[in-house]
Amino acid sequence: MPDEKDTRRSGEFRLSLEAAERKTPDVIPLHRAVMREMAEPRDGLEPVPVWLILGFLALAGWAGFYIAMNSGGFAPDQYNERALFAAKPAESPKPVDPMVLGRRTFSNCVTCHQQNGEGVEGAFPPLAGSEFVNGPPEQLAALLLHGMNGPLRVKGATYNGEMPEWGSKLKDEQIAAVLTFIRASFGNNAPPVSPGLVRQVREATASRNRPWTEAELKQFRLGG
Ligand code: HEC
Repeated sequence: MPDEKDTRRSGEFRLSLEAAERKTPDVIPLHRAVMREMAEPRDGLEPVPVWLILGFLALAGWAGFYIAMNSGGFAPDQYNERALFAAKPAESPKPVDPMVLGRRTFSNCVTCHQQNGEGVEGAFPPLAGSEFVNGPPEQLAALLLHGMNGPLRVKGATYNGEMPEWGSKLKDEQIAAVLTFIRASFGNNAPPVSPGLVRQVREATASRNRPWTEAELKQFRLGG
């Protein structure tokens, strides 16, 4: 059986609960005001204003027009720098002036034939006024491609030296250019020599592996 102390304690507890209940306000009257009010308005469901739609349409229209006017046709060479570099070689390379290339290539010849093309008496024949330089272009090309040795008469003087071959060192274009250059310099006035002619001579004399003699060279004709 519960002792007296316990009974008193549980009685006190009930009393304090009742007191607490009495202090807690009733929720129904408390929320009445809230329930009476309309629902709070919410953002986000109202229609887009017409002026805004028109504004965006105008903006999009202007942007489209701007791109159309300033796009450069969307050409790859305007937009893709790699396409730009890739496109470069397709363009035909700027042709080099044969006289410029020829003057440069002539630096191979000046030690012997001299800057002014006069050669060195008794050792290196002159290019100025030479019968070879101003003669048939295919013989001149053949001379350059394979070299020359043995006795040689140029402008009435006799030489007997070694003219090196240039076929293995210079390209057709360079040989044509240097021949064009010497035929138009030092007072010479013979027509230019084309790379195509040099190529033809190179092919026609492909089997040759020694320098020309004067007699051999003077018999050389393209196409037999
Ligand atoms: C190492 C000296 C040397 C060099 C370099 C040289 N030649 Fe010659 N060249 C000679 C000699 C020597 C002869 C004469 C060959 C002979 O006696 O059979 C000759 C002959 C010639 C001839 C025919 C003869 C004449 O005077 O017309 C021509 C043309 C010629 N050379 C052009 C050139 C050209 C162009 C170059 C440069 C690409 C060149 N030579 C570089 C030494 C040289």
